[in-house]
Amino acid sequence: MALAKPITPQNITSPLTKHATFLVLTVNRPNPDGLPEPTAIKAIQTTLSTIDSLSKTISIRDQDAAFACTVGIGAALWPALVPTIPPPRELRPFAPVHGSVHSAPSTPGDLFFHVRSQRRDLNFEFERLLLEGPFDKAVSVVDATEGWRYFDVRDLLGFVDGTANPVSGGIGMGDLVIAAGEDVGGEGGSYVVVQKYVHDMKAWQGLKAEEQERIIGRTKWDNVELADAEHGEQASHKTLATVEDGQGGEYSILRDNMPFGAPGRGEFGTYFIGYSARLWVIERMLQRMFVGEPPGKYDRLLDYSTPLTGTTFFVPSASLLAGLGE
Ligand code: HEM
Repeated sequence: MALAKPITPQNITSPLTKHATFLVLTVNRPNPDGLPEPTAIKAIQTTLSTIDSLSKTISIRDQDAAFACTVGIGAALWPALVPTIPPPRELRPFAPVHGSVHSAPSTPGDLFFHVRSQRRDLNFEFERLLLEGPFDKAVSVVDATEGWRYFDVRDLLGFVDGTANPVSGGIGMGDLVIAAGEDVGGEGGSYVVVQKYVHDMKAWQGLKAEEQERIIGRTKWDNVELADAEHGEQASHKTLATVEDGQGGEYSILRDNMPFGAPGRGEFGTYFIGYSARLWVIERMLQRMFVGEPPGKYDRLLDYSTPLTGTTFFVPSASLLAGLGE
């Protein structure tokens, strides 16, 4: 009897590092039918099937640097790239969200690379080697953002970001983040949503710290959670971004947000990245933030933070990626 191949996830739950590169690519579609060339698909399959060995090429050079790369695939590319496995059941393009004041746009992306380590040079080297040869000819870079650790894991608004994340090895981390067998095409993988936000720092810094804390739902200096607002009152970001499971628990997601930007360019940003075993959970969070709960009482964080991008991918298991070259 042949043994079933074990399903190994990619390094989704790797710890937050000091540096991360977020690469969003589209596949070139030069012909009027809008389909990628078979040679392009082949080049991408070959590259993705060898991502593990490219990662090893980099990580061996400093084993303390916690190098990891996860690869995501968009809904439009899945059928051509992975023809023998049905798409994960919730995989669909990022749905734009329109609130009364703020909107979250949907922007293009077929492939996503979340590259992270303690060293900027390792991430650079990975990106350099990845974007070489036939793969580079098959794709176009839509966005490449460099994120970095800001003090004690703070965002550029000055708040500690990532506290409520599920903890590696803790209760539910696997269930919350890695899709189970009932998601046939998605087993062992994770939905990932990315949004690149820019902040109006001048307006944010014009607020008193207490007002900023009410908007976020935590104290700024020591990161202590504030009580939820009364039902129907203006809720904080923390409350609006919480999706309950109806049994006293929450559908937590894994966020690896990173600050990015350069004061000399007037650029101050947060790269939002959320992994979940259930795409609808992140979509529900975005509805609650942009439309508000109750509708109209939207997340005040958005008065100071504008999303420039919004894209959804599926990060398949490492086993599926490795099999693409067969
Ligand atoms: C919590 C910042 C966008 C989901 C937080 C916290 C901060 C923060 C400071 C409190 C500490 C923590 O638990 O991490 C930001 C910034 C954003 C952003 C600066 C972009 C400008 C988003 C988006 C989502 C989201 C787009 C989901 C779609 C969450 C969740 C929590 C959270 C689930 C934890 C809530 C809880 O306490 O259970 N965020 N966030 N955030 N955020 Fe965001």
